[in-house]
Amino acid sequence: VVTNATLVFFGGTGDLAGRKLIPALFNNWQQKRLRDCLIVGIGRRAKDRDEYLQLLDGKVGVAQTDPADWKEFTKQLDYHQGEIRTEEDFKSLRAKLESLEKERGLPGKRLFYYAVGPQWFAPITENLAASGLLEKQGPDYKGPWTRLVIEKPYGTDLASAKELDRRILACADEEQVYRIDHYLGKETVQNLLAFRFANGLFEPVWNQKYIDSVQITVSESLGIGNRGDYYEKAGAMRDMVINHMMQLVCLTAMEPPARMNAKSIRDEKVKVLQAVRVPQSLSEVEQSTVRGQYGPGTINGESVPGYREEGDTDPNSTTPSFVALRLQIDTWRWAHVPFLLRHGKRMAKRGTEIAIQFRTPPLSLFRGHEICGHCSNMLVLRIQPKEGITLYFGAKKPGAGMSISTVSMDFEYEREFHESIPEAYQRLLLDALVGDPTLFTRSDEVRAQWTWADAILSAWDEIPPPKYPNYPAGGWGPSAAESLFPQGDEIPSGSC
Ligand code: BG6
Repeated sequence: VVTNATLVFFGGTGDLAGRKLIPALFNNWQQKRLRDCLIVGIGRRAKDRDEYLQLLDGKVGVAQTDPADWKEFTKQLDYHQGEIRTEEDFKSLRAKLESLEKERGLPGKRLFYYAVGPQWFAPITENLAASGLLEKQGPDYKGPWTRLVIEKPYGTDLASAKELDRRILACADEEQVYRIDHYLGKETVQNLLAFRFANGLFEPVWNQKYIDSVQITVSESLGIGNRGDYYEKAGAMRDMVINHMMQLVCLTAMEPPARMNAKSIRDEKVKVLQAVRVPQSLSEVEQSTVRGQYGPGTINGESVPGYREEGDTDPNSTTPSFVALRLQIDTWRWAHVPFLLRHGKRMAKRGTEIAIQFRTPPLSLFRGHEICGHCSNMLVLRIQPKEGITLYFGAKKPGAGMSISTVSMDFEYEREFHESIPEAYQRLLLDALVGDPTLFTRSDEVRAQWTWADAILSAWDEIPPPKYPNYPAGGWGPSAAESLFPQGDEIPSGSC
């Protein structure tokens, strides 16, 4: 149980706070994992606490569904109206925090959450330091802790990520910085560690000798919504691939850590990122990547606009909303095993999964017999939805002769554990509060991600993009991506 902490949210009146962060805190509070804390939203919009609570009432679903609990929970909430760029507003924030903490008998253990645009990450940190709210807390520091939780994107390329580090780490130690990647907070993502390292069965075959390819798909049926302004600059690569998908690559490919602790796990993840082959030429990038952008189409019977017709996008935009990539990890374990990554918005259905395609037997005894070889010996880890794991293998069809059909063994979270899976932010907020950085990204991981991504992004700046739009909303992405993916268009578990 986390008690007596102070949580301060920059972007307290924003979308992320209303949709994810405050509900996550509320759920933690309902589950008695959070008690007697002070939660302060910072924003420009509301004027005072009452107005802030009213604003949250409208945004937070649970405020309506569970009004009595919500009312009790909000006793911990307060508000500070302030401008991020104004140092004066940080001084008044400090005075306010000190007085509220005194009133409530809190020791001043403070977590500052940056739920704002990336252009504010460095100015907030510098203003916190200038107003005395943040100082480096080295190994000998004895006072109450101060931690920063920083949202993505962390930089737009390697140079800007380094510059951001320089400015932030001038005011805080790396140990105080929690770079959030909410995919790491997903139960199914953490289960990758349990699945691989708590079982003796899979690890012996988890290598190039037995694995033919690894296919990671993050397909979303949603479009970019009202985030055109941000997405135009980010695109699919910066929005999803270099962070969330590379974390999935890391957890799938890493060596067993020496210990189950933050340092060992992050050390192993960074080794994977450092071993990802960086393309050396434009033609390498051309051959191993496919970009796409959706046009108008139909999803679940509903007509939806194309990317260029969404709000705040350029009618001639060349921003990709789809990316397929083949990457290589140059280690003994993964030599010659392609990692095929695919992500797109406005795809036919929502689904995130990791499909491990095993090699065929060294000798086929069943040549000439009827064999469904489509996805035999494939292991599919479903991250979301229908969270679970399925192993496909060949079995003899009953009856005369010998025909082999693909069958499956299946594990589903809901069926097995009878409880709903907690939201990623619930776990991550608690971890940051107790000071466990395992599920947060370390500075060297971010840099290694950018080193690889920069090579692709800068090549894309030079190679003219395909003619957009090149896939309809509700499809499976551009047909060119099929050449990278052996399964063709559908995501693997859909094909059996
Ligand atoms: C966010 C991206 O980080 O992750 C969004 O900015 C994306 O574009 C979202 O839709 C996906 O998260 P989830 O948890 O719904 O898979």
